[in-house]
Amino acid sequence: MTDFLRLAEEIAREAGEMLLAKRPTMSREIETKSSPTDVVTALDKASEALIRERITAARPGDRILGEEQGEAPGESDVRWIVDPIDGTVNFLYGLPDWAVSIAVEVAGEVVAGVVNVPARGEVYTAARGEGAWLGGERLHCNTGVPLPQALIGTGFGYAKARREVQGEVVAKVLPRVRDIRRGGSCAIDICSVAAGRLDGYYERGVNKWDFAAAALVATESGARIGGLHGRPIGPEFALCAAPGLFEELHDLLASLDPLRGA
Ligand code: IPD
Ligand code: CA
Ligand code: CA
Ligand code: CA
Repeated sequence: MTDFLRLAEEIAREAGEMLLAKRPTMSREIETKSSPTDVVTALDKASEALIRERITAARPGDRILGEEQGEAPGESDVRWIVDPIDGTVNFLYGLPDWAVSIAVEVAGEVVAGVVNVPARGEVYTAARGEGAWLGGERLHCNTGVPLPQALIGTGFGYAKARREVQGEVVAKVLPRVRDIRRGGSCAIDICSVAAGRLDGYYERGVNKWDFAAAALVATESGARIGGLHGRPIGPEFALCAAPGLFEELHDLLASLDPLRGA
C-alpha cells in the first residue's frame, strides 16, 4: 500500500468514527447552501476541519480542496481532494449511505483514493496501478451486461431547473434498463459500479470532491469513467460502467441530454 493511501485511509477512518459518534446529537444542526434542498450540517464542517488538520500535520505544504472550505492557493504538486460527507441528506435522515471521500492527486493525476462508508463498516480503497479493494476483497466491475439488463445508479443536483431536466432524462432511461437506483452519494454510487452492486452510473453536475477517490476505485476495478462525447469526467457529466455498457449508456444519454445546461 502506498504511503499516500495509508495516510488517506487512516484519516478517512478517523473522520468516519467521529461522524458516527456525533451524528445522534449533532446531525440536525443544519444550514442551506445553493438552494433549500442543498443542506450542510455542522458535522460536514467538523469533518472537513478534522481532515484538513490531520493532512496538514502529516504533510505541511500539500494543497487541499474540500467541499466546505474550497482551496487555498499553494505551490505543491500534491493536492488532497476531500468530501467530508458525501451523501449529507442520507446522513441527516439516518440512512447508511454516506461516505468520507479522500483522494490524493500528484501532478494532476489521482494516485490514491479512499471512500469510507462508516455506517456500513465498508472502506473502498484504490492505488493507481495496484487495484481496487473493498476491505480485503479485490474488486472487479460487472462485464458483458447489455443495457436492457443493467442496473443503473444516478443522482440529481440541488438546483430546481436542473432537477426538472434530470427528471425528464431519467424517465426516458428507466424503460430501457433493468432498473434505476438513486442512492444519494455519488462516491458510493461509483464505488458500487466497481463492486458489481450497480452495472453503471451517470449524473450531471457532480464535483471533483464527489468523484475523485471513487473514480480511481472504478477504473482500478476495470470500469471506464468519463463524460459525454469523449470528454473527461467533470461537472458537465459523469458516466461510469464497464467498457461496452459504457458506450451503450453514453449513446443513450447523449441522445437524451444534449448538454442542456442541466
Ligand atoms: C451530493 C451527493 C448526491 C449527488 C449530488 C451531490 P453531498 O453530495 O453525492 O448523490 O446526487 O449531486 O452534490 O452534497 O451530499 O456531498
Ligand atoms: Ca454538499
Ligand atoms: Ca458530495
Ligand atoms: Ca459533501
